[in-house]
Amino acid sequence: MDKKAILLTALLGAAGTALIAPAVVAEQAISPERLEQGKALAFDRFKGNCLACHWIEGGELTGNYGPPLVAMKIRYPDREALREQIWDAAIKNPHTRMPPFGRNRILTEEEIDLVTDFIHSL
Ligand code: HEC
Repeated sequence: MDKKAILLTALLGAAGTALIAPAVVAEQAISPERLEQGKALAFDRFKGNCLACHWIEGGELTGNYGPPLVAMKIRYPDREALREQIWDAAIKNPHTRMPPFGRNRILTEEEIDLVTDFIHSL
C-alpha cells in the first residue's frame, strides 16, 4: 500500500479506502503506450542511446560502462531523484561520463519524463 492509500485509510477507515484506492491506483498508473514511448527513446541510438553504456532488459548490444538498470523502482523510490540523474548525472557525480540529457538538451523535458517513467518501471 502506498503512502496516499495509508493516509486515506487513516482518514476514512478501511471501507473508505476500498472505495477510493482504485482511483488512486488508476491516477498513478502509467499507460503502456507511455512506457513504450519511453523505451523507444531510451533505446534509440540517436536519442537516449542508454544501451551504449547500460544493460536494460530487452535491449540488444548493451554496454557495461554504466551499471545495469535493474530494480529501479526499489533503488529509486523517489522518481524525482531518478529524473535528476537522467537530466544531469553530474549533480550527483561531477566526474560522471554520462551525458547530461536535460542540461545539454539532448532530450526535451517531455522526452526525459517519458524515459524516466520507462526506467522507473524496470
Ligand atoms: C556514455 C555512457 C552513458 C550513457 C550513454 C548513459 N549513461 Fe547512465 N550512467 C553512466 C555511468 C558511467 C553511470 C555511473 C554513475 C556515474 O558515473 O554517474 C551511469 C548511471 C546511471 C544511473 C544511475 C544508476 C544507479 O545504479 O544508480 C541511471 C539511472 C542512468 N545512468 C540512466 C541512464 C539513462 C536513462 C540513459 C539514457 C537516456 C543513460 N543513463 C545513458 C553512463 C552512461
